[in-house]
Amino acid sequence: MNMEEIIVKTRDSGSLNREEIDFLVQGISQGSIPDYQIAAWAMAVYFRGLDAEATRDLALSMAHSGDIMDLSEIEGYKVDKHSTGGVGDKTTMVVIPLVAAAGVPVAKISGRGLGHTGGTIDKFEAIPGFQVELDKKAFVAQVNKIKAALISQSGNLVPADKKLYALRDVTGTVDSIPLIASSIMSKKLAAGADGIVLDVKVGSGAFMKNLDKARQLAQTMVSIGHGANKDVVAVLSDMDQPLGQAVGNALEVAEALATLNGQGPKDLIELSLHLAAHMLQLAGQHQDFTAAYQHVSHLLRSGAALQKFKEMVQEQKGRLLSADQYYGLPRAPVQYPVLSEQKGFVRAIDCEGIGRTVMQLGAGRARMDDTIDPAVGLILDKKRGDRILKGETLAVI
Ligand code: URA
Repeated sequence: MNMEEIIVKTRDSGSLNREEIDFLVQGISQGSIPDYQIAAWAMAVYFRGLDAEATRDLALSMAHSGDIMDLSEIEGYKVDKHSTGGVGDKTTMVVIPLVAAAGVPVAKISGRGLGHTGGTIDKFEAIPGFQVELDKKAFVAQVNKIKAALISQSGNLVPADKKLYALRDVTGTVDSIPLIASSIMSKKLAAGADGIVLDVKVGSGAFMKNLDKARQLAQTMVSIGHGANKDVVAVLSDMDQPLGQAVGNALEVAEALATLNGQGPKDLIELSLHLAAHMLQLAGQHQDFTAAYQHVSHLLRSGAALQKFKEMVQEQKGRLLSADQYYGLPRAPVQYPVLSEQKGFVRAIDCEGIGRTVMQLGAGRARMDDTIDPAVGLILDKKRGDRILKGETLAVI
């Protein structure tokens, strides 16, 4: 077997057997296949696709290319959530404490942002002092103590995906359903949770620009999960405009905290409650979705989720101040309002454009080793459907 045959077979048939997938994945993680052949293979998948079996085998093989998190020392049914990537998507910061406040353990391993989409780790790191690098023992102990912990993906978790994703990012091969599905699910399988809720974004700020594609991606990921004996549920959610109003790391932490304080934007509250309710249902706390939704709504209203968020920050050495001190988060020294040149209604928002602009301001990275400025970002004053007068503020950069 050699890599050229694998590229040709993929290009001509969109299918590979288990041995061929293992050969490919081992070659990617061990560095024995040159980048140009990996990139050519990714492009073959981009155009030809990959059948369901090969996609599942790719996810499983990548999951086993490095360490698999053993969460067996955490008591109870462990749930995880994952978003396929969006702009202003701070739901994880609301969902983790909601689910943990219900007594369901959340041992969350998250990534950093890449491209125009933000990453949860970068958002938590905007909180002064917050530590995202706990060793496994401390991570497990914290989940057993307070039901919630968040760490960044360690060096040897799914090394094959790390390498493949970096190459896809620079070869125009990111938005391929089998490649995205296997990339995300390999990480979820290696992260060791029993149940997973997937938030599949659809719209101009998402990798999947239309509903059909998003549905296909969701079905592919759910079937990979079921093939690996995991409970998996997928939700499709709107990414035709940023979620909430804030885009940028510290701004998003402040918006998540406002939400936990009962003052969040409606779309963020609704999606967070929805995802959290599915997580409680997977964990067997409720048979009925409506009952699960009411349960998490109560945890939000009562302040229990906010309290859980604060506990988690304290355990991970973060320092949060009060709301009137902007929680002690970094603030941009210059704030620039963008005014409307005409009156009318907001018909559409270039969501990816906003993600890219905020990234270029310094909230994200073009390369993995770029540093981030947590204070920069944008607050949208107007969203789709809103009326605007001439001279009104559309957004503050
Ligand atoms: N997120 C991932 O982890 N992988 C992809 O391929 C796309 C989004």
